[in-house]
Amino acid sequence: MAGTRTQADAAREAVVEAALGRLGLDAKARLLSGQDTWTLPALAEIGLKSLVMSDGPIGVRGVHWTADDPSVALPSPTALAAAWDPALARRAGALLAQEARRKGVHVLLAPTVNLHRSPLGGRHFEAYSEDPFLTGTIGAGYVAGVQSGGVGTTVKHFVANDAETERFTVDNVVCERALRELYLAPFEIIVENAHPWGVMTAYNTVNGTTMTEHHHLVNEVLRGEWGFDGYNVSDWMAARNTVAAIEGGLDVAMPGPQTVYGDALAQAVRDGKVAEAKVDDAVRNVLRLAARVGILEGAEPAVTEYPETVDGSDLAREIARRSFVLVRNHNAALPLRPDGTVALIGAAARDARVLGGGSATVFPASVVSPLDGLTAALPDGTLTYAVGADPNTELGIADKGFELRAVCRDREGNILGSGAAPNGHIQWMGPDLPDGVTHDALHTVELTGTFTPRDTGPHTFGIKGIGAFRLTVDGTTYYDDVQRPAKDDPFATFFGAPVPHAHPELTAGRPVEVSLTHVVEFPENIPMKVVSFTLSHQEPRRDPDELIAEAVEAARNADTAVVVVATTERVESEGFDRTDLTLPGRQDDLVRAVTAANPNTVVVVNSGSPVELPWREDVAAVLLSWFPGQEGGAALADVLTGTHEPGGRLPTTWGSLTDAPVTEVVPTDGQLPYTEGAFIGYRAWERAGRIPSYPFGHGLGYTEWTYESAEVRGTTVTVRLRNSGARAGREVVQVYLAPGEPDTDRPARWLAGFAGVEAGPGESVETVVELPRRAFETWDEETGSWIFVKGSYEIQVGRSIADRRVAVTINV
Ligand code: BGC
Repeated sequence: MAGTRTQADAAREAVVEAALGRLGLDAKARLLSGQDTWTLPALAEIGLKSLVMSDGPIGVRGVHWTADDPSVALPSPTALAAAWDPALARRAGALLAQEARRKGVHVLLAPTVNLHRSPLGGRHFEAYSEDPFLTGTIGAGYVAGVQSGGVGTTVKHFVANDAETERFTVDNVVCERALRELYLAPFEIIVENAHPWGVMTAYNTVNGTTMTEHHHLVNEVLRGEWGFDGYNVSDWMAARNTVAAIEGGLDVAMPGPQTVYGDALAQAVRDGKVAEAKVDDAVRNVLRLAARVGILEGAEPAVTEYPETVDGSDLAREIARRSFVLVRNHNAALPLRPDGTVALIGAAARDARVLGGGSATVFPASVVSPLDGLTAALPDGTLTYAVGADPNTELGIADKGFELRAVCRDREGNILGSGAAPNGHIQWMGPDLPDGVTHDALHTVELTGTFTPRDTGPHTFGIKGIGAFRLTVDGTTYYDDVQRPAKDDPFATFFGAPVPHAHPELTAGRPVEVSLTHVVEFPENIPMKVVSFTLSHQEPRRDPDELIAEAVEAARNADTAVVVVATTERVESEGFDRTDLTLPGRQDDLVRAVTAANPNTVVVVNSGSPVELPWREDVAAVLLSWFPGQEGGAALADVLTGTHEPGGRLPTTWGSLTDAPVTEVVPTDGQLPYTEGAFIGYRAWERAGRIPSYPFGHGLGYTEWTYESAEVRGTTVTVRLRNSGARAGREVVQVYLAPGEPDTDRPARWLAGFAGVEAGPGESVETVVELPRRAFETWDEETGSWIFVKGSYEIQVGRSIADRRVAVTINV
């Protein structure tokens, strides 16, 4: 059961009941329906303020989707999981609560605790791991941290939203055992240990019922069995049916103002289709949340003293370096020699990809790229830079060299108002419009200003967005027509690709006038009013062979080549899955050519989730940096120069797509059967007898560890190990449980616990890891219950699932 009820809970509950009793049906139904994109309505009659929600998970965007409302950007969730440290996740959460309070946000729409089922899942960077225990443990730390700052969370997306293809409608067919042992497990661990104030139900269907209507999983399992007492909010636009949603335990339908709740819900009660008691249950959950976050008059908030103020940049940098996974370090290539020269290579080394796209997007006030970080850290004259290969085949948001503003006009062309445009991306959601502008009067938005090019040559200009546009550059109109989406996703306007329309020859340093006018439309089938479009741009493209040759030359003249390879917005984002795991563009060719010229090549992989590294045995070192957040380049310099060791361990198996045992993300006739049952990630790799490129849990530091002993006492295992290297370090001690008798129905072994230890050179250290009862249990489909599986087990302790150092057999 989740949490113990305190006196304060009981007092809050009394205020909630009293407030509920003072509300009429219409007000209650209104409270359950978004009033706009991010908020619920205030109800003055009970002293309730408007509840504000915001994405999550790596920062708090707030209610404005724009670069002029910046947020701290932490490393991607895959990175946070790679640190294998719930206490660090908790500190991340506390910082995010601080950010939320600064922005007037009461609930953070995070964390994402779906699993890395197939490596093709496009949104994996936003989830933690392929392992439910690691996911749940990191998620619990994160939730506890956010809520310690008085801000709510919505653990999402409940449940089995493990891929993006047909995400609104896909019916994931999952056996109960896989649901319990894998997909529900992180939610269960978090509910039990961190008592979240919210859950977000997913777009997808599970076993024939869409998740916003899933009575069994929401009412019976989440609330009934686990005792969840928070609110259940739909994913954005996921709620489709008034009666089925309220019966299925959905409390809040977002976003508004048009939802299946509100008037429609009140009417359903009046028509006798829904019992008013069901509405009361949902309202009670929302009022309880409001009381906890301190916006219900008369109720004491759950948190009255906030944790100490956190420096966001410092924490972002610490998490980044503790998340970097050094998967290969041949002949101790890293850390770099202090007096050596470095050739830094790669487009992402200069224009870093610090975060994944989609709803997880935030706008950091500043970003430290690898080039910035290494320039600051290395002595003058020791660093050179070359692009080498640019994987960005597509246009980016018009930014560097652009000075823009947004002018809003009515149908007659009169100016209604104008807004700031820090770059070429406009996204005004709901009431978030420039002063003096209303949705009713607004007809066009013109992004207008100047562009001063860095380079001479053919520049490309394009448009991302849906509807009518006119694009003019330097006095020539290149496009005056209507763009329509290629795909029937209501979010296509946000996540679609920009379309190139103009290729003018421009001269470096000579400013030109630029204008993009958009006729706004507010389609009836989209419940929120959004103005969203982008002026896109791409600098002149250089010959790819010439770029590689330039990089090879730079590498030849340096002691070490550091190549940063990356995925792009087109490879990893929200709303679509991947089709392969290869690095985009000519990046593999680049690494091969650079390594041939200089064997002392260190490759930094800037991706949120696995990519194939076909040259991995030929290079000196491989460091995975994930999407490292705003301080990524500074953290990279810390780790490359050796002021800090890389602290990460793989939260997910890295291997080739051909070898990966579970890959399918494309539904057939709307259904995606999880045919692999309870075997995903390392469970599946081991069963298939395949060796991945890098196993689950793998990661090297800058010191060595000798495991001395493991001893089981009761439900704990005590591990003794020694730092046998030459410098202080941190180790993640991993405990796996392996059934003594081979059992084809169960994995060969699974993660049962872990602990971080620190020790100086030569020092021994002891740590105690709890063995949870659940690690010994399996879900029995016949009885519909957990069964404790008796027998002999080997407790295997080590550095990764493949590098097990000590073991002890027990009988339970
Ligand atoms: C995403 C959610 C997100 C919501 C609001 C949805 O498309 O799936 O994770 O919280 O949008 O931005």
